[in-house]
Amino acid sequence: MRRLLVTGGAGFIGSDFVHYVLEHTDDSVTVLDKLTYAGNTDSLRDLPGDRFRLIEGDICDQQLVDHLFDEHDAVVHYAAESHNDNSLAGPAPFVQTNIVGTFTLLESARRTGIRFHHISTDEVYGDLEFDDPERFTETTPYNPSSPYSSTKAGSDLLVRAWVRSFGVRATISNCSNNYGPRQHVEKFIPRQITNAIDGVRPRLYGDGLNVRDWIHADDHSSAVLRILDAGVIGDTYLIGADGEKTNREVVELILEEMGQPRDAYDLVTDRPGHDKRYAIDWSKLRDELGWQPQFRDFAAGLADTIAWYRANEEWWRPQKAETEGKYAKVGQ
Ligand code: NAD
Ligand code: TYD
Repeated sequence: MRRLLVTGGAGFIGSDFVHYVLEHTDDSVTVLDKLTYAGNTDSLRDLPGDRFRLIEGDICDQQLVDHLFDEHDAVVHYAAESHNDNSLAGPAPFVQTNIVGTFTLLESARRTGIRFHHISTDEVYGDLEFDDPERFTETTPYNPSSPYSSTKAGSDLLVRAWVRSFGVRATISNCSNNYGPRQHVEKFIPRQITNAIDGVRPRLYGDGLNVRDWIHADDHSSAVLRILDAGVIGDTYLIGADGEKTNREVVELILEEMGQPRDAYDLVTDRPGHDKRYAIDWSKLRDELGWQPQFRDFAAGLADTIAWYRANEEWWRPQKAETEGKYAKVGQ
């Protein structure tokens, strides 16, 4: 039984991990979260009080972080500014949280020798051509495109340097695009589901043919737990589930599941620097740690996700108008 500290545990993927750990292990969990616009305490409702607590605070606060590291056995670091579109409108908090925040945590990890797992994204590798037969691997060179992905790349490189220079006991995982319940409505899939609920036509950037490699958040969580248990210190693991789809294919599935015509969407202004395609080769995780994704049927996972947004309007409704207001300003 470990005492885990989970940064960013009130966000989408962090909260999924918290639920997953409390369900599948005897570990206890402390969440450290700044509760930015993306943090939602409703995502952490009804958790067992004897094994779970939430601390509201900033990962850039060295004193707080030092204190919390002394009380825990391992840290899983999810906290980040996470949305590409926001990073184009205002990059400053991305540099602060993703780079300075990760640096702050690493300094505590160095002092305490605590086991540290850093959560990152496949977007650090840039993008692939549509017809490229290759997928990203652990040795693909870094080539990030956006302020978001460049600050995540910077944070990964800090972790690698703190392992090599100071012997920090860290692992890194880079995962593809996640879907599932409790994802903020600014992101692609929840935005389109909640638009369709509201009778607004889904909006695709550019020609809608960009490709993302989708994985269910529970599969991401099981992979992270596996790496925490059995990963080799200093190693990087790519997490994916063979879920490549064009954005059009995803929206067509959403519309079909929601009983609307498959072509009832609009094409809008493209995202500047829009990455074309992501695709993950996750064979290292399979061959070395014996991990497999459980959600193999994307349409079924998506249908469950749609059902969740239909049943949990009180969770997402307070965020919806402000989010759409931001998109309206840039014609998206
Ligand atoms: P999210 O935006 O839903 O959640 C981020 C959480 O971090 C929020 O609860 C927020 O309050 C918290 N936070 C932000 N700044 C903080 C700070 N300074 N101190 C403490 N807490 C702070 O993000 P998400 O989609 O759940 O992503 C979580 C992690 O997973 C990120 O590191 C992201 O880069 C990575 N990731 C995301 C995806 C994806 O598809 N969403 C894919 C791969 C990797
Ligand atoms: P997003 O969820 O922002 O994730 P990421 O930028 O990290 O991949 O977007 C996923 C894809 O969907 C990406 O190609 C951009 C596109 N997209 C749209 O076409 N319309 C939208 O309204 C949004 C939010 C995203």
